Order: sequence, then structure tokens, then C-alpha cells
Amino acid sequence: MSEIDLSKAVEISDGIHWVGTGTKNFLSRNAYLRIYNGSGKKNAMIIDPGPAVDLDVLIRKVSDVIGSVSQVNMVFMNHQDPDVVGNAPYLGRSNPNTLMLATEDTWRLVCLSGLDTSKFRAVERFKNMRISLPTGHKIQFVPTPFCHFRGACMMYDLESRILFSGDFLGGIACTQLYATRANWQGVKAFHQLYMPSNEAIRLAVRRIRELQPAPLMIAPQHGSIIRTEDIPFFLDQMENLRVGLDIITTFEDTMPQLIDGLNEIVETVRKTIGEESVRQTMRMFHADGSYPAIFSLTSEEKITEIKGDPIESIEALIRMFFRTCDDQQKSVLKSIILRILIARDLPTFDTLLTQEFAPEVEFFEDDSPSA
Ligand SMILES: [Fe+2]
Ligand SMILES: [Fe+2]
Repeated sequence: MSEIDLSKAVEISDGIHWVGTGTKNFLSRNAYLRIYNGSGKKNAMIIDPGPAVDLDVLIRKVSDVIGSVSQVNMVFMNHQDPDVVGNAPYLGRSNPNTLMLATEDTWRLVCLSGLDTSKFRAVERFKNMRISLPTGHKIQFVPTPFCHFRGACMMYDLESRILFSGDFLGGIACTQLYATRANWQGVKAFHQLYMPSNEAIRLAVRRIRELQPAPLMIAPQHGSIIRTEDIPFFLDQMENLRVGLDIITTFEDTMPQLIDGLNEIVETVRKTIGEESVRQTMRMFHADGSYPAIFSLTSEEKITEIKGDPIESIEALIRMFFRTCDDQQKSVLKSIILRILIARDLPTFDTLLTQEFAPEVEFFEDDSPSA
């Protein structure tokens, strides 16, 4: 898969092109070009046109496929975040006949950027939230409330059976166009931070499972595209994921303890492996500006906030520290960290901190005849 040239538009299915960018960043942005051709008619739709900083790439990739960006006459927007809709005003100006499709909740905010309201079509006004295009193609709109915005809505292209899922099932640190199961960690981290609750996720998962016919691909606005064979895996994982408020309320009482414990661990590690190694490791958690750092730090490098699941975040940090240690330092640190965790009544990350004890002494019964 690594041979796919992501500097160019990539056709992911007949008439559907990935025209996104940012795959070298922590958080990539996927825009898609859907060309509908049939009954002597042609329509070109951009799905989630992306942020203004990606406009040059979008224009180049779209022009490579259809000659000019002014050929685009439909835009669909999952929700109103700037990373999704930043280029919608440009597309509206480059072809004033461009129809804008979104939910009313989304439009109410997107139109503040000066879009022509007469070109807006509210997807919830379509009968059964489905439309047929003059080319004969059918589209179904599937709302995913609070995943992560109130008016978020997926778009299901019924001919290709590709589901454009917006932020839902998006992921960070995905550098390849197509997902493998190893991408779950990045998908999980993204949802833990940006999705409000497991309840909202379950509703979205249920709606995807109910789609008839079942999708062959799920194409999110960030990260990698999920192919048929991996869809059940990602939906199953997602269904049980604790995110956003679930995490905040679960750790509400223990969070100060966790942060204090973590600061004590960092201080101990600093004394063992040195200031510079600690700083370098902490820097790795700062991503690249396209995504928030897992830990908020003061100027004295004291941790004040843990984002995402705190247990997993602490475990990830300890794991990173261990990578910079030699065996002897690691063994000393294991004992000290374990002591800190036990003293503060915090989880002890058994697999991470397992000590290599000397083997148990084997006894042999003396079966020689007694004297
Ligand atoms: Fe978003
Ligand atoms: Fe997004």
C-alpha cells in the first residue's frame, strides 16, 4: 500500500477520488471527489472540502481529475468544523451554481462564512433522507448526532457502497490511505478526545450496521479508509470504547491523584535518566501542532492535565521513558514507579512493571530410605 502516491488524487472506487492531504501530519484531512456520470448528465461533488490551508492541493488534485475545480457543482459537508468546510466558500464562488448539502444545524454555522443560502439544500428535508440524482445515482444521508457535532451527518453513496463518515471512524497518525487493524490505536485516541460519549458512538455504530446494503468501505475525514474486511472489527472496537465525558466522569475523583502520581514519576525518572532525556520524551507527546498534546504542561514542565484515557496515557509515558533507559536504570525505575503507584493506590500496570525475579527454588523430596 505504501506505493500509492498520495501527492496525487487517488481513485478509490469507480468515479470516486481521494483528494485529501496532510498524511505526513498527525491529523490528515481527507476530501473526496465523487463524479456522477449517467443518462447523458454529469455531476461532480466534493465531500468534506477541507480547510483553507489545503485549498491549493484540493484545486490541483481536483483539476487533475476533472479539468477544473469550476466543474464541481455539489458540496457535501458532514459538519461545520473549519477542517471540514474551510474551502466551501471558494467552491461556491468558483461555480455559483454549486449546491451545498448539509444538515440545518451544520448550515446555520457554515453559512456565517458568507455562503449563498439560496444554494443550500437541507438533507433532512429529503424524503427518507435519500435523493436520486439526474444521473440515476442514489444517495442516503445518515445522521450521527453528537459524533461529534449535534448536526453531524454521514453520506452513503449507494452505488459504490462507500460511506463517507466525517470525523466518525477518523484517526490520527495514519500515514497510509487504507487502514489496517493496527490503525485502531490512532482511531481510538482520536475518538477518546473528540467524541462526547459512548452513547453517541453506539447510535452511530448501530446506524452503520443497519445500512442496506452494507457498506464496502468507510471513508472518514481523517486517517485511513476502512475496507470491507475490517469494518466489523472497527465497529466492534468502537462500540465499547469509553470516550470524552465517559472518561472525564469516570476519573473525576481520581484525576488529581493520577496527576500528582504522574508528576512524582516524572520527577523520579528525571533524577534517574537526566533532565534532557525526560524533556525529549515529553516532546514526543506534543504531536506536530495538528493535534493536541496528551499532557498539558506548565513552563516548569509540570503536568496539569491528562487528555484521553489517563491510565493509558500514563502507561504510554512510562513505556516511552523505558525506551530511553538501559537495563539497570529500567530495573531501578520499575521498583520506584511501582512504589509510587502502590502508595497512591493507583493501578500498577502489571505487564509494564513486571519484575524479573530470580526463579523460584525447586525442592526435591528426599525419597531415599530413611535410616
Ligand atoms: Fe470535527
Ligand atoms: Fe475533522
